[in-house]
Amino acid sequence: MPGLLVTPEMKFKTLKIKKLHPTFAAEIGGVEFDKPIPNDVFQEILAASAKVLADRRASIPVFIQLPPTLLLFRQYGVIVFRKTGLDDTGHVEFSRRFGRLDDMRPYMTDGSEPQYGYYELFDAGNIDPNTGSVLQPDSPRAQYNKGNALFHIDSSFNNPRRVSYSILKAHELPPAGTGGNTGFADTRTAFEELNPQLKTELLEHDYIGAHSLYSSRKKAAPEYFKDVDVKKLSMHKHRIVQNHEPSGRMTLYIAAHMDHIENLPPQKSRELIEKLVTHATQESTFCVMHRVEGGSFEGQYRRDLRRTAVHDDSSEA
Ligand SMILES: [Fe+2]
Repeated sequence: MPGLLVTPEMKFKTLKIKKLHPTFAAEIGGVEFDKPIPNDVFQEILAASAKVLADRRASIPVFIQLPPTLLLFRQYGVIVFRKTGLDDTGHVEFSRRFGRLDDMRPYMTDGSEPQYGYYELFDAGNIDPNTGSVLQPDSPRAQYNKGNALFHIDSSFNNPRRVSYSILKAHELPPAGTGGNTGFADTRTAFEELNPQLKTELLEHDYIGAHSLYSSRKKAAPEYFKDVDVKKLSMHKHRIVQNHEPSGRMTLYIAAHMDHIENLPPQKSRELIEKLVTHATQESTFCVMHRVEGGSFEGQYRRDLRRTAVHDDSSEA
């Protein structure tokens, strides 16, 4: 969403912003989700999501884990609305205001109906759609979902459907202390905090990352996907260093879906991906990557999260 730059000093008429993290997360209050959200309030939400933090270098960020009620992340990186009370319809309608939504039709070739009634509502939880009970960790669907526990950007494996906002609503969460939070990594600050030599290398070479959904699936469940040859699948390409247009900051467009870096020998490609992902996700690090945190809830407690995703309209998409 180019053109949404705002100043750090910007004040909001309606929103109440509570920073949750030094570089990229905030809780927003003051929005009445039980009524139609007026356009001026929605414009404030967009502006908050485009806010450039004035003090992003002031302190060392702390990696965060949030049990979200409703999350979206773009500029502030992560925005949390608590206790929205939105049902599936409200979730989808609210999401539509951010732009054209991704939907599951291309992935549902067997004629089945969407799990939650909307093709735009993706299952991001651990519920077996046939029984309503918790997926067992060794089930095919759980094996497939393991890739979501690696840091990723939604739909980076599909160029025309690349995502800007992911809007995640928690309907049911595991008991406290059993895991299942959503973890986020601030890839804009991660770029800024790269060592100068590596930053120069990335800028000079302007590397292209090649992404495939099955790259993350296979990394997370190598045995289950052992017969999948990712190299034979189509790759979707993104520059690794990009201008994040709404904030005007550079970002690392990296994700577990990234299989390799083009025009690099395989070992160099692997090492560089490993280095960048490790840097961007280190515990004391630094808006686009996220993952499901593991824990003892797996196979025991319901984690019912549903997500919509807005297509990215930036020139880098
Ligand atoms: Fe995701």
